[in-house]
Amino acid sequence: MRLSADQENRYRTEGFLVLEELFSPAEVETLRAGYEADASIAAPHRFLEPDSGHVATLFALHDRLPEFDALARSPRLLEPARQLVADQLYLYQMKVNTKSACGGKTQGWHQDYIAWRLADQLPAPRMVTMGILLDDSTEFNGPLIFIPGSHTAGLLRDDRAEGSEPDAFVDSNDVALTPEILAELVEHRGMRSIQAPAGSAVIFHPEVVHGSAPNMSPHPRRPLILTYNDIHNLPRNPTPRPHYLVNRDTAPLSAYQPAGRG
Ligand code: SIN
Ligand code: MN
Repeated sequence: MRLSADQENRYRTEGFLVLEELFSPAEVETLRAGYEADASIAAPHRFLEPDSGHVATLFALHDRLPEFDALARSPRLLEPARQLVADQLYLYQMKVNTKSACGGKTQGWHQDYIAWRLADQLPAPRMVTMGILLDDSTEFNGPLIFIPGSHTAGLLRDDRAEGSEPDAFVDSNDVALTPEILAELVEHRGMRSIQAPAGSAVIFHPEVVHGSAPNMSPHPRRPLILTYNDIHNLPRNPTPRPHYLVNRDTAPLSAYQPAGRG
């Protein structure tokens, strides 16, 4: 389950890495079914697209569905995460960021760690995010787009946009980079979109600049996104955000290998 030296080097240089078809079609189908059932229930951890009423983000599936809890402990995710960040990690956040068929919103260009530092007072970007594609990611369906190497630039802003809603959910557009900063980054580093089949994993750094456009395809786009944090890098916010945004169980995870594959 360890990344090869070449894979690790690519992650450290570019700030992201794709592992194609890490999960089988049957495993993806199980996750999709769990997601769809959970997404059909109205709850505070479920956020809707304002115009269409379709689900936009569903948080903390591991709290309700054992297969998602087991997934967070899968050696296929946990071992590379430990290799890249630290031996002792816990699951900081799990979510599915859906873009409905011919819908979904723009996710402005941002660095995740800015949001987590502002909202949770996380001391350092000692984290890694693992996105699992529950659908093929294509040029048409609002794929994640990265600026390679941008994680080496440090924090590129450190505040929320004026007029941001003062709620617990920090929207990517509230911490989006200015067009000037974006232009300079892109001039030097370019942009790369993720095109990979369902079941592939996209590993990305908390400071790599990324975003996505709306989904122009007639099928939903549902990446399942898990973020691991070093247990020595706990949030310091004296009034923590809701548990579905910031997991309270900070005990170090150990790998769980169900019968068959991990
Ligand atoms: C997206 O869903 O395209 C963006 C995901 C993220 O910013 O975590
Ligand atoms: Mn993000």
